[in-house]
Amino acid sequence: MKLLIHGGRVIDPSQKLDKMLDILVENGHIAQLASNINPTAGAKLVSAQGKLVVPGLIDMHTHLREPGREDEETISSGTKAAVNGGITTVVCMANTNPVNDNQAVTEFIYSQAKKTGYCNVYAVGSITKGQQGKLLVEMGELKAAGAVAYSDDGCSVKNTEVMRRALEYASMLDMPLICHCQDDDLAPQGVMHEGLISTMLGLEGMPALAEETMVARDISLAALAGARVHIAHVSTAGSVELVRQAKARAKAMGIKVSAEAAPHHFSLTHEAVRNFDTNTKVNPPLRTAEDVAAIIEGLKDGVIDVIASDHAPHTSAEKEAEYNYAPFGMIGLETMLPLALTKLVHSGAMQLMDVIAKLTINPARILGLDKGTLTVGADADITIIDLDKRFTLDIAKSKSKSKNTPFKGVELQGAPVMTLVAGKLNTSEY
Ligand code: DOR
Repeated sequence: MKLLIHGGRVIDPSQKLDKMLDILVENGHIAQLASNINPTAGAKLVSAQGKLVVPGLIDMHTHLREPGREDEETISSGTKAAVNGGITTVVCMANTNPVNDNQAVTEFIYSQAKKTGYCNVYAVGSITKGQQGKLLVEMGELKAAGAVAYSDDGCSVKNTEVMRRALEYASMLDMPLICHCQDDDLAPQGVMHEGLISTMLGLEGMPALAEETMVARDISLAALAGARVHIAHVSTAGSVELVRQAKARAKAMGIKVSAEAAPHHFSLTHEAVRNFDTNTKVNPPLRTAEDVAAIIEGLKDGVIDVIASDHAPHTSAEKEAEYNYAPFGMIGLETMLPLALTKLVHSGAMQLMDVIAKLTINPARILGLDKGTLTVGADADITIIDLDKRFTLDIAKSKSKSKNTPFKGVELQGAPVMTLVAGKLNTSEY
């Protein structure tokens, strides 16, 4: 099976490449990357005229809900949404039911992904049994089963000693630990950012400090353990600053710190909660305009390495509740790229190359995945993008089982057009 993608502007940050090139795909791999490749016999022609051609996007923070909450999402529906969103690799979080805290669950995820998935799936194992924060999982066993990182995402690991040991084992196993940073004692009943708006709305707040104290703790513990630590969904200016300082001292401290931001944290502020739309209820919460500016600055200057969706599907029945009772989370697989292009590129805040790096090679390097590149021989995971397409988000076109997004009806610019997963072509619908 041969396929020739021709006439596109190829941007591949892994090779610092931004050039008009053609790509020949053969048997699921990239066979040639050059200008004006002659169409060989039998090759299907795919025109990328006027489009961007980039390595298939990687989302290192997705909740696929299978096993356990197949009413919200399945591996099949979630990966279908991913591919529609231009994403060819998803890394799924461990807060399934049962939690991915043992080999059997990890193996189930991989076998189900093989049978029903539309894109590459990698699993994150939890840090503690049942994400209860008490007993460490068998970390070696999870790695052997294919887990690419550990995280109790959805919850913080409250006990500092448990977190220290987790980082020490992760370091021995040369695996990254992904930290959901929140001091629950500082934000026990919080449903939104603590500030003027929460006071006006009469909703319990989650202070920025609840995140920042944990970011500081986990960086310090990582230094003690010599571990690789990745701060998930950075949402405050203070957290950006803590990661900036840690990166400046990383070599001396013997640690590797990386961080990610979710599109909603650079696109919306807590003002969005004013209408009590439960789709704006996320954890960590939407913050202030100053926090949004700091996150964009952090993305720009490299403090934040990755853009990740934190796709968190919930049914409309669950979200159609009072703000206090609705679950945290919004879907994000199909809005990650359009929001990144609209808010970071078209706004003039960032260079295209840097944004694409945060969606491809950077997450691949952090997790040690052989992905995120268009080098010859690599898997033919490719995303074709219409950078200028203006559209209004039509949630009916989403492939996710859940529709919980506050971006419904929002005008965006830039969308995926086609996606190849190991050479298999899919056309996006927007
Ligand atoms: O908003 C969120 N939803 N944040 C998390 O950390 C977990 C996620 C979920 O699983 O629903």
